[in-house]
This record gives sequence, C-alpha cells and structure tokens, in this order.
Amino acid sequence: MINTKEFVPKFFDNSASNYDTIVSWTTFGKDRIWKRSIINKIKNPSSILDLACGTGILTKTLSETFPQSKIVGIDITKSYLDMAKVKLKSWENISLFLRDAENFHLDQKFDYIVSSYIPKYCSPKLIIKSCLEHLNPGGTVILHDFTYPKNPAIQQIWNFYFKLLRIVGIFLPEWRNVFLDLPSLIKSTTWVDEYIIEMSKNAFDTLIEYQRWKTACIISGRHHFSPE
Ligand SMILES: C[S@@+](CC[C@H](N)C(=O)[O-])C[C@H]1O[C@@H](n2cnc3c(N)ncnc32)[C@H](O)[C@@H]1O
Repeated sequence: MINTKEFVPKFFDNSASNYDTIVSWTTFGKDRIWKRSIINKIKNPSSILDLACGTGILTKTLSETFPQSKIVGIDITKSYLDMAKVKLKSWENISLFLRDAENFHLDQKFDYIVSSYIPKYCSPKLIIKSCLEHLNPGGTVILHDFTYPKNPAIQQIWNFYFKLLRIVGIFLPEWRNVFLDLPSLIKSTTWVDEYIIEMSKNAFDTLIEYQRWKTACIISGRHHFSPE
C-alpha cells in the first residue's frame, strides 16, 4: 500500500519558488476557478483556517474577500510556508504556522476549515479529527483535490497530458518527481469516498461537487453540532 505522506517532502521540499506559476500553468488556470468555487461557499465567516496553505494562494484570496475575518494558514513544508510569510507579510488578518494538518493544536476555533490539494496525502480519519477539534459549532469543512476522470476519452487526454509533463520535468528538475508520481497517486486515491464516509460518520452534512470533466472534486460539509 502507498504511504501517501512520503510524497510530501519528495514533491514539495524544493519547489516553493515557482509553485504559483506551475500550478496555474499546469491546470490551465483552473486552479484559480476551483479556489474561487471554495470561496463562493463561504458566508459571513469570522474565522477561516486554510489547511496546507502552501505558498498562500488561497489564503491571500480569502483575506482579500473577507477582510474582517481572521485567517489562519498552516503547512508542514517550511519552504512553502516561508514563501507565504514573505508574500503575505502586509496582510494583518493572516497568521501562518508550521504544523502537520493530521496532528496539531491551535488555541482557537474556526467557522470554516478549507483546503486545496491536501486530501490525497492525508488520513481522512486524522484530518476530520483535527477539523472537529478546531471547528466552531455548526462550522463547515471544504476540501478540494484532484480526481482521475471516469470518462475513457478524457482519461486518454489526461494520461497523454501527464506524459507531456514528464518531458517538461526534464527541464524543471524541481518538478520532475511531481510530474512522474502524481498521476499514479491520483489514479490510486479514493479520497472522495473515504472523506465522505468519515465526515458522514462524524455528523457532517456532505455535498460532493465534481469539477469540469471530473478532474477534481470539492467536498463540503457542515457539522451538526449537538450540545452535550
Ligand atoms: C499542492 S500544495 C497546495 C498548497 C495550497 N493549498 C494551494 O492550493 O496552493 C500541497 C501542500 O500540502 C502541504 N501538506 C501536505 N501534507 C500536509 C500535512 N500533513 N500537513 C500540512 N501541510 C501538508 C504541502 O506542504 C504543500 O504545501
């Protein structure tokens, strides 16, 4: 069985400097649209946690969209977080911390916990446990990541595209491992089903929204808080 956590240092230790460009370029700009879809689900937040905030692309847009909210970002990769700290240093409503999303403690709770591209690397059980520990009553979790398309014609295009990216990886050595190993990780992950099961078990109302051609998915879930 694949230990998905092992991919994280392999993929991210050396690639922070051009991550923003690469993610926009390799997704043909869809990354921005997916992040906008996450933001469109957020209503009147007083606080938002961005799990695995990376270089802070989503964190910054959250802060721009909700200037009155307190925005916190955490990430396990120091170079990514350092990049976010430089980019976002003038944003007073943002705080950033080096933390493992599967096991962390912050002294505050949030109305919304959002994340782009973390589900496939992490244990649903641990992520949902962390979310529950940091969610305000009735709070919402929104998770987004890649999925392997189900339509055979789209699969062919998808596979061909990753073959091209492997060639691009020859010229971008810091991205070679990602372009090589990401397709098999996306093909093997069952993150959508696993998170839905875990969230349903833990009293979340869940909604699954596949994105264009089912190459990505956004799961959202509001927690039913029952006072003890
Ligand atoms: C593809 S990047 C996405 C960054 C950002 N969410 C975005 O959408 O631009 C994946 C990020 O997940 C982070 N990550 C992976 N596993 C993590 C974990 N267990 N705890 C915190 N961050 C994690 C990596 O360090 C990396 O910054």
